[in-house]
Amino acid sequence: MSTQPHQDHVPERGAAAPLKALVVYESMFGSTHDVAAAVADGLRAEGVETELVDVRHAPPAREATFDLLVLGAPTHAFSLSRPSTRQDAVRQGASPELASTGIREWIGAMGPREEARGRAAAAFDTRVTKVRSLPKAASTRACHLLARRGYHLVSRPTPFLVHDVKGPLVAGELDHAIAWAREVAQAARRWRTGDSDVAAS
Ligand SMILES: Cc1cc2nc3c(=O)[nH]c(=O)nc-3n(C[C@H](O)[C@H](O)[C@H](O)COP(=O)(O)O)c2cc1C
Repeated sequence: MSTQPHQDHVPERGAAAPLKALVVYESMFGSTHDVAAAVADGLRAEGVETELVDVRHAPPAREATFDLLVLGAPTHAFSLSRPSTRQDAVRQGASPELASTGIREWIGAMGPREEARGRAAAAFDTRVTKVRSLPKAASTRACHLLARRGYHLVSRPTPFLVHDVKGPLVAGELDHAIAWAREVAQAARRWRTGDSDVAAS
């Protein structure tokens, strides 16, 4: 982590205004929802104005006002879900209406890179404990896509663990989510005020 000011830093809103965050999540069995709610709590604990929204109801990024975007998704087939993997989840008991769209599609609807100017982002996923150190998972993919869209990443892709496909979350993961969100808020604030550059891959 460098302490150099970020050369490309262009805050979308005045640096003195309170940070605004949009947390968009996708969840077939509820675990990613629960982590996303804890992430929203952690951001609010840092004084960030936070909106938490299911991807099915999320406004397009260009229509929303935020400085920090946090995306959360379940890992499906080592990546973000696709229509086919969501249908697979439905076959395993998830509610069919949850399968209509996902984070991959939401990012896919983003506009040109200018839309991301001055906007920080971070992504997390849920995944099963057996594969905790997956080289590729939903948040890895989300961060890659966000960087391509011009977002400034303020955290590495971050996993939260579930015991099995339908959960439950591993004990302690909600506290982990709150702590992670607080770090994300602090990093976004530092970037916004030009105090540091937090690179993530
Ligand atoms: C079709 C499908 C594919 C999955 N593939 C993976 C995988 O590649 N790696 C992994 O760790 N978990 C995998 N899982 C488990 C999910 O990550 C787990 O169901 C999810 O984290 C639960 O989150 P949710 O309750 O928000 O849906 C898969 C689950 C489904 C339904």
